Amino acid sequence: MKPRVHLTARVPEPVAAALEEHFELAAEPDGVAGLVAIPSVVVDSVLLDRAGPELRIVANYAVGVDNVDLAAARERGIVVTNTPDVLTRATAEHTLALLLALVRRVVEGDRLLRRREAWRIEPTFMLGRGLAGRTLGVVGPGRIGREVARLAEALGMQTVAAGRDDSLDEVLAADVVSLHVPLTEESRHLIDADALGRMRPAAVLVNTSRGPVVDEDALVHALRVGTIAGAALDVFEDEPRVHPGLLELDNVVLTPHIASATHEAREAMGLLCVDALRAVLLDGRRPEHVVT
Ligand code: GLV
Repeated sequence: MKPRVHLTARVPEPVAAALEEHFELAAEPDGVAGLVAIPSVVVDSVLLDRAGPELRIVANYAVGVDNVDLAAARERGIVVTNTPDVLTRATAEHTLALLLALVRRVVEGDRLLRRREAWRIEPTFMLGRGLAGRTLGVVGPGRIGREVARLAEALGMQTVAAGRDDSLDEVLAADVVSLHVPLTEESRHLIDADALGRMRPAAVLVNTSRGPVVDEDALVHALRVGTIAGAALDVFEDEPRVHPGLLELDNVVLTPHIASATHEAREAMGLLCVDALRAVLLDGRRPEHVVT
């Protein structure tokens, strides 16, 4: 008999096929042995208890695991896995895409054309800022932060980085501040009014990590009054809600949590989840990426 696994979201076809080969896919989480979770699904003690004592693994279809109550999983002897590495390039590319879109006013230009406004090429029309020679401040120089730095260096940027135990002074003084930390109690509102106040008025903030790392009310205020020049955001404090203040500002570029959303990355992430489920439920081996 195949172990029962519940998927909390639709997965790419090759991932579904691999899952169906080894597992019985259950429509509800009750009584399953494995759970595939996504960042918007809160895996707390209520869900773990609903799944019941058969549950042995939560395969999180993401690198961030802030949606999972790790202590509750640990107490119940449930393995939690994540999907690092295979989404690093996709997430770094999206970070650069957001940054370029912001500083070169790509989305603003697109909106102008769609409004069918009159325009003509002029020496002062829609000027942006170049990135060459600017500094990139990486908050969280892990796998993704380091990859963003590598790509930014190809654009002629210089990087400064701050890890968990470093002061943020130098990164906050950069021309571009990019966030690549996991969401923890320590990193919640790491970028608050005070941190924004330490950024330069011409600087921009990029966030492809987790929304609550930024105090969104403080960010909206900082953008309105010109404390900083702009923001490019893939993640939000209270997803799927987007702060209405952000929606009204032209110096903001927004995407709906899609930094890892390439066909390649999402398929590889899914196959890592399948491998983790197989390891725990079929082969009795330790999965490659165990969080707890
Ligand atoms: C997506 O947000 C992830 O953590 O993989």
